[in-house]
Amino acid sequence: MSENTPVISLQNVDLYYETKRGLFKPPIRVGAALGINLDVHKGEVLAIVGESGCGKTTLGNVIIGMLKPTAGKLLFNGKDVYSMGKSAYREFRNSVQLVQQDSYAALNPVKTLRHSLCGPLLHKKLAKNNADAVKQVYEALDMVGINHEELDKYPHELSGGQRQRILMARAILMRPKLIVADEPVSMIDVSLRISILNLMAKLNKTLDIAFVYITHDFGTARYIARDGNITIMYLGKMVEYGNVQKVLEHPSHPYLQALLTAVPVPDPIIAKKKRELPLKSVDMPSVAAPPSGCRFHPRCPYATEICSQEEPQLKPFKDGKCACHLADQIPAWSLRRDKAGAEE
Ligand SMILES: Nc1ncnc2c1ncn2[C@@H]1O[C@H](COP(=O)(O)OP(=O)(O)O)[C@@H](O)[C@H]1O
Ligand code: SF4
Ligand SMILES: [Mg+2]
Repeated sequence: MSENTPVISLQNVDLYYETKRGLFKPPIRVGAALGINLDVHKGEVLAIVGESGCGKTTLGNVIIGMLKPTAGKLLFNGKDVYSMGKSAYREFRNSVQLVQQDSYAALNPVKTLRHSLCGPLLHKKLAKNNADAVKQVYEALDMVGINHEELDKYPHELSGGQRQRILMARAILMRPKLIVADEPVSMIDVSLRISILNLMAKLNKTLDIAFVYITHDFGTARYIARDGNITIMYLGKMVEYGNVQKVLEHPSHPYLQALLTAVPVPDPIIAKKKRELPLKSVDMPSVAAPPSGCRFHPRCPYATEICSQEEPQLKPFKDGKCACHLADQIPAWSLRRDKAGAEE
């Protein structure tokens, strides 16, 4: 494995859900993540952004090995996860952890946190004995800013923010190389969100853990990914990818341009709209019945004939990647800032 080998690499990954409709009807196939090529390197922060139902959670679950791709490959340190031996697979599962949106559902309600945190360490033989497990748990709690006394509480006795920190502690106890954080702040109080984002940034810097941060919110994506990368999803597909600052300042894909135009004005990070980009239709089609050609074509103000006929591939464009037939023809869109960096 060379220095540049990604921790995680998805190669031409498709994930279809199949929903049975009774004995005589064929199952409905829903392509929730399609044609995904994506690398996550050591210590990188990658934000996956898109509207509800576009396949973000699905993609996160593919990355952690919870959902096996219908097609394509998932590589961990350059090795195919689904053809590796037992001990390498175990290392993969420990090294790639998930922090879920719903911290209450993620913890066993009838077990104390001591049980939930020490148990896996002993079970996976990551601790020599009980005392060693407790020592490791205390260190993890210190890292995430939770008092040791909280350990004998049950999940419902903690706030949402505290539970989210406990999930981070549980994840880092597995000594991960990558944490997939699926909308980790969307269910907690707005006032606490920034501290959870700062905690993720701290874990990224001090422990060199890569993060895949899943969100529908550009402000937090930009905040957490800072110098990292971002990918935008639309109906199961990646439509844009690149450095987060560059992509959000100069979005290439009309869908991303439209999304950024719709960001509310008082957002502290992403600014006021520079100009309108009217969508032809406000309704998002279903991923179960995606439009032909470019999936965005019924809504895209720039759509031409080719757009409804041929599906655009995600191709290198400027400093990143974009999936649009007309990427080099559509007018530039950018946020304008005044000299102080504030929005106009
Ligand atoms: N277990 C499942 N069976 C069938 N369809 C599913 C299942 N889970 C998610 N889907 C569908 O896949 C699409 C993507 O879902 P999801 O990955 O949860 O999106 P997001 O996290 O972006 O909101 C949605 O249309 C959703 O209805
Ligand atoms: S391919 Fe066509 S419809 Fe799709 S985003 Fe580009 S211009 Fe719009
Ligand atoms: Mg989701």
